[in-house]
Amino acid sequence: MSSLRDDFPLITANPDVAYLDSAATSQKPRSVLDAVHTYLTTGNANAARGTYPWANRTTARIEQARDRVRRFLGDPDPARSGVHFVSGTTEGLRTIARDWLAPRLRAGDEIIVPFADHAANIEPWQEAAALAGDVRIVPMPYDAAHDYDYRRLAELVTERTRLIAATHVHHVYGNDMNIHRMRTAVGPDIPICLDAAQSAGHVPVDVEALDVDFAVFSGHKTMALPGIGAIWARNRRGPVLVPGGWAGSPNTSGIISLVAALDWLEAAGQERIAAWNKALGVRLTDGLRQMSSYEVLGCQSSLAPGSPVQRREGIVTFRHHAIGSNDLGFILAGDGLMVRADGHCQGDQGEKTSSVRVSVHIYNTPDEIDRLLSVLSALDR
Ligand SMILES: Cc1ncc(COP(=O)(O)O)c(C=O)c1O
Repeated sequence: MSSLRDDFPLITANPDVAYLDSAATSQKPRSVLDAVHTYLTTGNANAARGTYPWANRTTARIEQARDRVRRFLGDPDPARSGVHFVSGTTEGLRTIARDWLAPRLRAGDEIIVPFADHAANIEPWQEAAALAGDVRIVPMPYDAAHDYDYRRLAELVTERTRLIAATHVHHVYGNDMNIHRMRTAVGPDIPICLDAAQSAGHVPVDVEALDVDFAVFSGHKTMALPGIGAIWARNRRGPVLVPGGWAGSPNTSGIISLVAALDWLEAAGQERIAAWNKALGVRLTDGLRQMSSYEVLGCQSSLAPGSPVQRREGIVTFRHHAIGSNDLGFILAGDGLMVRADGHCQGDQGEKTSSVRVSVHIYNTPDEIDRLLSVLSALDR
């Protein structure tokens, strides 16, 4: 069992529950809860407004938090990037689309949009195109394994392409979308915006290695409080999104929680977390493959036992051939197995029928996966 599990009060207080919905939101380690409690009980104040110590300390902590986010994302040079706090990935992507992209769009421009990804990474780009008028939305090409098809993507890029919207880890199939191959495929000049909602806190996110221009993630999926998220924006293609980054009173306790969460994740070891989650995902997919009633969605080659290609980052989605996914969700909930059952907010090139998604994190255990497999196996016929 992962000893890090002991850091999660809600998890340890509920040994009969297996929380398997971390792609929706993660549980919070004690250090995050303590950081928020300490802040609110020893120095709560608004930021960038006061002349007294609590306010000044809060302002300083928020400025430091921007650097904390940069370090978390592998950005070695604070002078070259901006970090802007938002409520989460949805608001972050929408902010980039509305405040950065839309004013730069001209008639005849193009945006490449991933229509089999999360709706939060589709609708803002459509809205930006509508705001600007006469802008073409070009669907991102996928291959049979639900990866981006980089050969076809390279062919789709033109001198009018103004942005490529991409996802780091897919929220339904759990696959890493090979973003390290995107820059080579599309050339040096096209801005790439990365939705890191499912990768941040699960696998290392390195904006330098991936060579993207924007990265956005949600605090509540990375062990921080709900209502906080971050946009990282590279300066390379013009000024950062909001110089200075102030837009009204910031979510101070959310930002405090985010720093504590990123500290916790880094101390735990991001590679260790990724390996743990992947191993639990493999255990589940291998188990499901032994049962004829279940169809696991996504790249099948990564499911072969012993396959070196295990690219599911702790997210496994499946259907039962006869039991509806919502019914299956209720059955599993009856056994304390908390999974997600529905259409998962996927865009219109995504799955047409609902499914059950299991998503793990460092506090989950092989025993929990075996418990789940045993309930699923009783329904295998
Ligand atoms: C890939 C992806 N992008 C964006 C979002 C939206 O995140 P939020 O609801 O935190 O804004 C989600 C949420 O599940 C997601 O999985």
